[in-house]
Amino acid sequence: MKKIKAVVNTLDRKSHINREVYGHFSEHLGRCIYNGIYVGENSPIPNTNGVRNDVLDAFRQIRMPVLRWPGGCFADEYHWRDGIGDKSTRKKMINTHWGGVTEDNSFGTHEFFDMCEQIGCEPYLAGNLGSGTVEELADWIEYITFDGVSPNAELRRKNGREKPWKLKYLGIGNENWGCGGNMRPEHYADLYRQYQTYCRNFSGNELFKIACGPNADDYNWTKTLLDIVKDWHTKAISLHYYTVPTGNWDKKGSATEFSDEEYYSTIAKTRYIEELIVKHQAIISQYSDNIKLIVDEWGCWYDVEEGTNPGFLYQQNTMRDALVAAVNLNIFNNHSDIVYMANLAQAVNVLQSLLLTEGEKLVKTPTFHVFDMFKTHQDSELLYSFCENDADANAQAISHSASIAKDGSLTLTYANTSLDTGYSIECELIGKKAQKAQARILTSDNVRAHNTFDAPETVLPKEYAVQSTGSGISFDLPAHSVVSIVIS
Ligand code: AHR
Repeated sequence: MKKIKAVVNTLDRKSHINREVYGHFSEHLGRCIYNGIYVGENSPIPNTNGVRNDVLDAFRQIRMPVLRWPGGCFADEYHWRDGIGDKSTRKKMINTHWGGVTEDNSFGTHEFFDMCEQIGCEPYLAGNLGSGTVEELADWIEYITFDGVSPNAELRRKNGREKPWKLKYLGIGNENWGCGGNMRPEHYADLYRQYQTYCRNFSGNELFKIACGPNADDYNWTKTLLDIVKDWHTKAISLHYYTVPTGNWDKKGSATEFSDEEYYSTIAKTRYIEELIVKHQAIISQYSDNIKLIVDEWGCWYDVEEGTNPGFLYQQNTMRDALVAAVNLNIFNNHSDIVYMANLAQAVNVLQSLLLTEGEKLVKTPTFHVFDMFKTHQDSELLYSFCENDADANAQAISHSASIAKDGSLTLTYANTSLDTGYSIECELIGKKAQKAQARILTSDNVRAHNTFDAPETVLPKEYAVQSTGSGISFDLPAHSVVSIVIS
């Protein structure tokens, strides 16, 4: 173990870490909604109003704060009226983006809002600007949030929901530079202004409107967009960035079989999101101090598992994904002055999932465990933290962040992305005596290790020992491991 020093200053508070930074995303894509989350009321799989109980329990365990729906690319061809009322007469459609399968619309607005209530999370809707109409989106907001007398509120009541729901987060379109209409930023920005005009604040509900921001490093999109939308009730713009190990979308690499070189390229490409955040923030700050960044799609995107529908984006999840998740979450924490929300893509059975399902079986992925280990950062204050680091071939091996909760407890999270060097860390705590430290470690002998339906506990967090020193704590951070420490 290589000895290094670290510092956490509890007196130097930087910014608030919104709980929404630990948010998620569920799209009508492959087996995310159907089979993954929703099995219907008549399924033999234990469920509450059609939503799997094991999924609900897992989402509650990580304190899921917000869930984005119905897409993704699906959002810009979703027509909400197809997904309400009697299920036997709901329209069936083709899910053209994702595998050309039949979408029976049995999971719609009521099912989504009911599920969010069961989880205890905020709903985040992506509205259809690509192929919908201004009227359709305006009506959806009225249907969901209006408490008075109107055709849409009456329709909602007729469909069994007397009181309106609360809806805060509303995305006006999704990836409108791509699958959401292939628009130029000028065109999208004008449409954004038009669509948002008719999305009203009804019955005390206040919308937090999110404009479609850039794809990765498209700084021109951010600038042109903000030129046009900055004064039009824009609370945030989105950023989408996926980690593709090879950088080649035609051959992205396998989720479980990868070389060490591919592993390091995955980590480097993950760390690149920090540069994207900083550069987009520099542009945003020229327009406003109040507009935030929402990274509403992030995560690893690999080749699909052999034998699965290429349109379903089903992939396994290894210890490498756990490290990617930890690096991303530490970066979001450390930039919580601008990153207001982030949503992992996606919650179940799609891309870098929290959960994988097969019939009645469910597996928690290594990524899930990282969200569980980091959950005490939610709604805390980011603290100054420093850690000596290696700047050799494994540049920036250690990723870290620290926060203080309302009750004064600290959460320190570390990830060591080196495949061969372990570190022994002596961490000085300024302004806090470490009375009690509870730590957990997630690691495995092999960075390619993953959980399967037959061996669901191969990668599992374990209780971990942390020593108290005169001025703080000391602990080991083995190669390819994630450690979380809660100090009270
Ligand atoms: O998450 C999968 C897809 O990735 C989403 O539908 C889209 O927004 C993005 O391109």
